[in-house]
Amino acid sequence: MVRRPLIAGNWKMNGLKADAVALAKGIAGRCLPQPPPVDLLVCPPAILIDPVAQALAGSPVAVGGQDCHTQSSGAHTGDIAAAMLRDLGASHVILGHSERRTDHGETDALVREKAVAAHQAGLVAIICIGETEAERDAGQALAVVGKQFEGSLPPGATAENTVIAYEPVWAIGTGRTPTLAEVAEVHGAIRALAGKQLGAAAQRLRILYGGSMKPSNARELLALADVDGGLIGGASLKVEDFMAIALSSNG
Ligand code: PGA
Repeated sequence: MVRRPLIAGNWKMNGLKADAVALAKGIAGRCLPQPPPVDLLVCPPAILIDPVAQALAGSPVAVGGQDCHTQSSGAHTGDIAAAMLRDLGASHVILGHSERRTDHGETDALVREKAVAAHQAGLVAIICIGETEAERDAGQALAVVGKQFEGSLPPGATAENTVIAYEPVWAIGTGRTPTLAEVAEVHGAIRALAGKQLGAAAQRLRILYGGSMKPSNARELLALADVDGGLIGGASLKVEDFMAIALSSNG
């Protein structure tokens, strides 16, 4: 297998410390004696990365952030630098999630700058792209996703320091998903675009699907040729559901 699947939980703004630690320990416990044949990652709220990383110590489950600033330090009240995430044990950071693009007006150019900062701090950047329902209805899905991909991918991106997450905005948290053919079409298009930037290494780039992935649909989504894992919101908050998704992948 060229690409080892990545199953990543995006916990968003959910859970207090005790909940996060219990969830992390539940996931770590389910990796014994034999972890699933995938890479596992959980992305708690930044303030909970430290206790979650401690709860996961010695387990194969990695920890990530949900955002970082473009700068490594300075007068940016309330913001968090990539190196701070790294310092607490994070190895990944989600960037350009549609909720950040909407809630905080993040643009492709900003996401690209953040990805540069993440790479400088030694983090893998998980760059999120995806069309709205109106854009899909207008037949613009491929054009929108392609523009976001090209605008958000930073210079210096490699198949090792970057992961792409295709998340149709209208599928996030709604229980709705695109058809398998639609997912396959977008993932294939992203890989083709990646080929222009990364050459042969695009075959090693992991492209995740996100948006209402759950135990009941994970197997068919993860079986698609260019789907290399999932970015999971709601279903990542339950140990059983998250692990069921992880075990749905053939590895
Ligand atoms: P969802 O969220 O699985 O709850 O749809 C996915 C995401 O936003 O990353």
